[in-house]
Amino acid sequence: MTFLNNSTLLALTVGCLALVNHGLAFSITGKADDDACQDCTDGVTQLNKYLMSEAAIAGETELIKVAICPDLDDPKGCEKGVDAWWGKMATAVFGDDKTATEICSASEIGACKARLPVYQGKWGCDECKRLVGLVGKVIASDDGTKTTVDFLKGDAFCKSSASPNATVCAQYVDALMPAALPVFGESIGFASEALCQTVYAQCQ
Ligand SMILES: *[C@@H]1O[C@H](CO)[C@@H](O)[C@H](O)[C@H]1NC(C)=O
Repeated sequence: MTFLNNSTLLALTVGCLALVNHGLAFSITGKADDDACQDCTDGVTQLNKYLMSEAAIAGETELIKVAICPDLDDPKGCEKGVDAWWGKMATAVFGDDKTATEICSASEIGACKARLPVYQGKWGCDECKRLVGLVGKVIASDDGTKTTVDFLKGDAFCKSSASPNATVCAQYVDALMPAALPVFGESIGFASEALCQTVYAQCQ
C-alpha cells in the first residue's frame, strides 16, 4: 500500500512503545490441538485490549488521519471526524467479546476451524509476529472490512446511544472504514514486533 509512509508507521509504533513493559505476559504450556482455538482467541483478546487502549487509539487516530484524510473530498472534515469517532468505533469493535473469535475463525488464521497450532509449543518472537501479522491481514481483508462495516452500522454502534444519528453514522462508516481498515491492518503487520513486546512481552 503506497500511501503508508514512515511517519504514519512511526505514529502507531510510538503509540505502541508508550506501553512497553505494561503488557501482560502470555504463557503457553503445551496445549493440545483442541485448545488451539481458545489459545488464539485468548491471545487476540489481549491484542484487542491493547488496540483500544488510550495510547494505541492516539497512534491509530494519527495514522488514519495522515493516511486517509488527504485523499477524501473534505480532508479537514475527515480529520475532525476521525478525531471524534475513531476511538469510539475502535472501542466498539475491539471491546466486543465476539471479535476475537471472528478474527480467529477467518481463513487467514484458520485456528478455530482448522485448528492450526497458532501458539502451542511454538510461541516465541517469530510466532508472535506471525500471529499479529495474520490478525492485521484479517482486519485489512475484504471480508474483515465488510464484517466490521456491517457491525459498526448496526446495534453495536450507529444504532446505539454512542451515535447521535444512525443514518449519518452509517454514511460516515461507509466513507471512512473501507479505506481506513486496510491501512490500519497493514500497520499492525508493520508494527508486529513492537506489538509483541508491548502486548505479549515477546521479542524482548
Ligand atoms: C439524521 O440526519 C439526517 C440528515 O441530516 C436527517 O434527515 C434525519 O432526520 C436525522 N435523523 C434523526 C433521527 O435525527
